[in-house]
Amino acid sequence: MSKKALQVAAVRGTRDLWPSELSKQLHVTKALASVASRYGFGPVQTPTIESTDLFHRSLGDGSDIVMKEMYTFQDNSQNSLTLRPEGTAGVIRSLISSGLQYNGPHKVFYQGSMFRYERPQRGRYREFQQFGVEHIGSAGPSTDVDVISLARDCLQEIDLLDRVSLEINTLGCHESRLRYRKVLEEFLEKYRADLSIDSQQRLDRGSVLRVLDSKCDNDQRILESAPRLQQHLSDAARQRFDDVQGGLAALGIASNLNDGLVRGLDYYSHTVFEFVELKPETGAKGIAVLAGGCYDDLVALLGGPATPCVGWAAGIERLCLLSTQQPPSPTMIAVVPIAAGDSATVTAVRHHALRVAKALRDKGHTVHVCDGSSMKKQMKMADTFQCSFAVLLGEDELHNDTATVKHLHERQQHVVPLPELAAYFKPSALP
Ligand code: HAM
Repeated sequence: MSKKALQVAAVRGTRDLWPSELSKQLHVTKALASVASRYGFGPVQTPTIESTDLFHRSLGDGSDIVMKEMYTFQDNSQNSLTLRPEGTAGVIRSLISSGLQYNGPHKVFYQGSMFRYERPQRGRYREFQQFGVEHIGSAGPSTDVDVISLARDCLQEIDLLDRVSLEINTLGCHESRLRYRKVLEEFLEKYRADLSIDSQQRLDRGSVLRVLDSKCDNDQRILESAPRLQQHLSDAARQRFDDVQGGLAALGIASNLNDGLVRGLDYYSHTVFEFVELKPETGAKGIAVLAGGCYDDLVALLGGPATPCVGWAAGIERLCLLSTQQPPSPTMIAVVPIAAGDSATVTAVRHHALRVAKALRDKGHTVHVCDGSSMKKQMKMADTFQCSFAVLLGEDELHNDTATVKHLHERQQHVVPLPELAAYFKPSALP
């Protein structure tokens, strides 16, 4: 007797997507891409694996992602590679390696798998899908507002606007942050022993701003009395942020100023923002569905000329979790051969059914051929495929050039001449 083979489980934090879920993801992605196209963004694709060094240099050694979430491995040539944890670094790496940094601005969108070794929970996976946009090489408050407006329109397109709130902050210019880092560091050093190990490590690595992002309650209590970045902004940075807020107001986009919002990646400067879930009953804030900001130093950090950039990315699983919008589903038609009689007749009816199904598909209809060993099983199949109509084709129909159309919800049926069958299913022609 053969032993039962051991089943292989999916990797923790990854998902298999079957049609009902994947159709929704594709529908959401398509909706976002169509809004991004209306804003003049075009599609871009970069590899899923990149040199590990890219993420160390762009996201920062003190970021959670680099410290503990990357899927890093050596290939057979001993190169250190990493499954991309986010899309921005790869897009900028690609811009520079393709020599495109000099003929901007560029406006691109992308979608695909990202990988982070995080603890899986609601809306959080180890392999997840992001849709992101990057506006490269055009500076200023109006660009920030335009990119946030794009995010808002994307969320509106999938009926999510009343489920989210826009949190916004500024990280100021380089000089503002240098000044602030110094005072924040002095403050945090006084509490070093009480801070979480993660935050102490961030202090050691010089990633002082990352401490503001700590998930530890005690760290957050200590931070309540910490100096605020807002108090250390240069006049120009403050003016820039005022202009962004003014632009959002001019478009009627409501936002909450959240001075604790620093984002988890080192490359940000000036405007940063997140659309976070609003819990329906309590109005409490939940998971971030879409987040981004300006990153004016990244191109230079990766070897290109100084280039202002702004962008965002949204977690597709999170958008699907919150959006109740369903992809439009076509009217399904079952073509059911009634195979009775001698084997030549059975074969002729089956072939006829395949031809009728193809003719209907050629006219744009969605058709399942429901062949099987009994009429009962065939009709069950039609039910499983959620068909609204069954086109019954037997020997009589074959000879008379007709089809018997059964309305599966209304329990009525009509005999339809075959040449009129495709038009019969056009919504306007339905009886
Ligand atoms: P991020 O905030 O790390 O930013 O991720 C953006 C979005 O990806 C989050 O708001 C969330 O919806 C989704 N996301 C992140 N981690 C997970 C996860 N483990 N499972 C499911 N969804 C997740 C970035 O990635 C930046 N590259 C965004 C950006 C583009 N900034 C400028 N340009």
